[in-house]
Amino acid sequence: MIIAIDGPAASGKGTIAKKIASIYRLHHLDTGLIYRAVAKAMLDAGHSPDNGKEALAAAIALDPANFDEAALKAPAVSEAASVVAANPDVRQALMNYQRAFATKPPGAVLDGRDIGTVIAPDADVKLFVVATPEVRAARRVMELRARGEDTDEHEVLADLLRRDERDSRRTAAPLKPAPDAHLLDTTHLSIDAAFRAAVDIIEGVRTGRKRR
Ligand code: DC
Repeated sequence: MIIAIDGPAASGKGTIAKKIASIYRLHHLDTGLIYRAVAKAMLDAGHSPDNGKEALAAAIALDPANFDEAALKAPAVSEAASVVAANPDVRQALMNYQRAFATKPPGAVLDGRDIGTVIAPDADVKLFVVATPEVRAARRVMELRARGEDTDEHEVLADLLRRDERDSRRTAAPLKPAPDAHLLDTTHLSIDAAFRAAVDIIEGVRTGRKRR
């Protein structure tokens, strides 16, 4: 079984994807980490994230076995990742890895922006997870403060909106729901309620109660 979970930053898709993978005993890939790793390699080497030639070289050299997740989640990397991810050559270079991951037995949950549209268009279930920008910013602030980072809520909201805009407007695999995706709005849901809503959709599809 392949489950595609897409949506904007801090919509809850990552948390839902992890829990879904765990209960269905599937592999899980947070595809944002891949773009973040390319971006961090660029920043570490002193390259601008919009340097296409260097970004492609970094994407080709990527080693997903050696991700330092905490370092990749830093806000400076988020912004650079969104720039790097708009480069079609970078996306192409990262496609085979993601597709191979998706088809590893017994199946996988992948979360990102283009899983249901580009990486796994034949996924068994597709979710598109959304929440209002204000709620997403509040969640991101809580997450950053829990990690001991000093953050300004207005700045976090502005960063999210800028990334949403860039991720949705780019021509290469923009952030958008696949036509057959099930929309899940987590604005007023706790983590637990969002997870249960996701399970309900997946079980609905598996038992034929819901369209695929
Ligand atoms: O999910 P995230 O915030 O960790 O993603 C970081 C950036 O990577 C995001 O701004 C857009 C990009 N991304 C993408 O373009 N396609 C994906 N499948 C996942 C992430």
